[in-house]
Amino acid sequence: MAAMRRESNVQHAVVADDHGRETDVSSARAAFLRVGDPELAVPDGRIPAALRAQFNRVVIDEADTIEAQRKASVDWASTERERFRRLVSGVDDGTREVLVRRAALGCAPLALNSGAWLQWLTSPGTCDDPVALRILALYAEDQGVGHPRASRASGYLALLRQLRLSEYAAPASRIAGDQRIADVAFYLPATLLTASRRPSDFRAELVGADLCLRTVGRLPALDIVREAVPTATDWDVLDPGRARTRSRPSAADAALAAAEALISDDPAAETRVRLGFGWALEALRRWSEQLHAELAGALDAGYDMAELLLLRAREGAVYHQDYQLAGRSLSLWLRDCQTDPSELLRVLAASSLVRPGNAEASPLVRGLVGEQGPMFRVFSPGDLVVIRRWINSLGPDPAPAVPVASLDDDWTLDWTLPASLPAWLSEADTNNDDTEPKGLREAYHRLMRREETPALRRYAMSYVHGWLARSRHGLGDGDHLLPSRWAPEGLRPWLIEQHDRHGRQFEESSKAPLPSRESLIDSTVQLAPLTLIDGAWLQGFTDHDHASSEVGHFLFDTYWDELGNGEPGLNHPRIYREVLAEMDVRVPPTASAEFASWSGFREKSFELPVYWLCVGRFPRTFLPEILGLNLAMELSGVGGSYRRARIALKKYGFSTRFVDIHNTIDNVATGHSAWAADAIDVFMSSLPLGPGNTAQLRAWQRVRVGYRSLSPPDGFRARFAARLAVRFGRRAGAVR
Ligand SMILES: [Fe+2]
Ligand SMILES: [Fe+2]
Repeated sequence: MAAMRRESNVQHAVVADDHGRETDVSSARAAFLRVGDPELAVPDGRIPAALRAQFNRVVIDEADTIEAQRKASVDWASTERERFRRLVSGVDDGTREVLVRRAALGCAPLALNSGAWLQWLTSPGTCDDPVALRILALYAEDQGVGHPRASRASGYLALLRQLRLSEYAAPASRIAGDQRIADVAFYLPATLLTASRRPSDFRAELVGADLCLRTVGRLPALDIVREAVPTATDWDVLDPGRARTRSRPSAADAALAAAEALISDDPAAETRVRLGFGWALEALRRWSEQLHAELAGALDAGYDMAELLLLRAREGAVYHQDYQLAGRSLSLWLRDCQTDPSELLRVLAASSLVRPGNAEASPLVRGLVGEQGPMFRVFSPGDLVVIRRWINSLGPDPAPAVPVASLDDDWTLDWTLPASLPAWLSEADTNNDDTEPKGLREAYHRLMRREETPALRRYAMSYVHGWLARSRHGLGDGDHLLPSRWAPEGLRPWLIEQHDRHGRQFEESSKAPLPSRESLIDSTVQLAPLTLIDGAWLQGFTDHDHASSEVGHFLFDTYWDELGNGEPGLNHPRIYREVLAEMDVRVPPTASAEFASWSGFREKSFELPVYWLCVGRFPRTFLPEILGLNLAMELSGVGGSYRRARIALKKYGFSTRFVDIHNTIDNVATGHSAWAADAIDVFMSSLPLGPGNTAQLRAWQRVRVGYRSLSPPDGFRARFAARLAVRFGRRAGAVR
């Protein structure tokens, strides 16, 4: 049967846990489990080479224009939908239910990651690039930006919940632990998600694959699920080719426009876009073929039963040495069953445990697994449905044949990831030639990309530890700091007080003289390394698991605004460049080495930007600190310094758009400052309250340090504390 043949064909990886216990899982499944980590480093070397080999499985020729590929994918999808629909026509309700469950689970690894492959296609170095902004717009729509749990993936999770199949579905990477799902279902999403961690290498392939998946639309197998449970979820959301709001073009059209914009920018990318498309279509076809064969097999209740025996045999073989079945111990039967369940199925059907056609009268259901039986709770309620259905399907003269799916396994199953890939993902490649950045300017330049080397990661981690130690130094109370305790009423009242304070400061400062023109230009220039990467401290929150989470969606929404909601004209870094141009300052492109080495910037002007670039890479490790920093950042200018800067800019005839837009978008009622406070409140509310419980106090202290990290003390003692933290951190292994 297909399940057994999967065992023998798919590449397997032996994965060891911290205690040295080894598990044998398919390499795609194991890779899938790892690539959901937003802090995963995928360095140069073996992994990108292995991914390149995946895409190169297909050969693209002249005839495979994007238009031809799109037509082929639409044709395939419509034929495939029809094939799945035919499968369920005329079947009884019980069988339909089995097929619906299998189809819903089979599509889960891909559907729970809908769009996730676009998660890293903006970076600090491309945050003002119009093509990157188009892709971000597509991705933001997938996420249902602005609302928690409103992503396409969340729509799929709702479906699984309705079908009572969601035990392993959140976070999305855990679906790999669901043994009911075939290994082949993980190949396509695991490959795309791994490639998403190397955006500089695979942007074109990802855009091509994305276009394919949106052109295909809702996965063909889901047609039978939709027919069975039409109101279980918002089905339009599960079609990645559809727009989420009426006013926008379809997501398939937007993906095509993104691909065309990419190609017009870089004509050499066209072949790779087509390669990504061709690969995705072929991978979809192979997986869908396998899923169809699985469903066709499951039309026979014996298929389901055989698969259940196969899944449970290894644990069961440990027991039952004394239970005799057809002259052998059940333990021996179960041992053999691990490679071929057909014999056990046959003797079980012929045994006194089973009354063919009558599950309720069968001792297997009544006695053994019943409340008083020795195997009570060995089988889940879902397993019992399978056992009952199998017994009820047996005729009076049972000769159950194990159904074999009629598949050409080589065609279907030789697409698999290398067995070593999960291990490579677990231990970042070591690159001996790699060195840590020698100074702030080199670090700034190297941190423009999402990719990192082990040495760059060490540098980033160490820089953050040092910066936070400085921010922690002498942290007491003060009206410019967060309160010493967090109260369940939340931060909104405090936020309004701060806003009033900014207003008062603005009134007071209005008597002070304005800066000279030269001084205004100089401060604008020195702020450029920071402002031209606006949002960089939030880059980790574009990650699929964070972008629509209860806390993370506030931060992703903020990032989305900083970058201009996909509109170059609203992009904050681009607006800043316009001010610089008015001042006759022409700085090189932000991602270029020339920018970082530009003599117009002082060394010190890179200190805070490098902190942003470093801390933004660790949205899990430094979540409380980033939440605090984000509030400090969003609140910093509102009501006060932006207004004062406006007066100065106006006086010398420069555009005030950059400060105007921030004074409104960061506002404390409905803007970024408010979201920043709300994100903290949601985060803090999830921690245990009450006297003696230190978890919340410790987390709050970290948020406060993060808040102060926007402008940490600068004295000798504070800097000395930073140096000590870095030195001890490295020695203790905290900085790796
Ligand atoms: Fe901004
Ligand atoms: Fe903002």
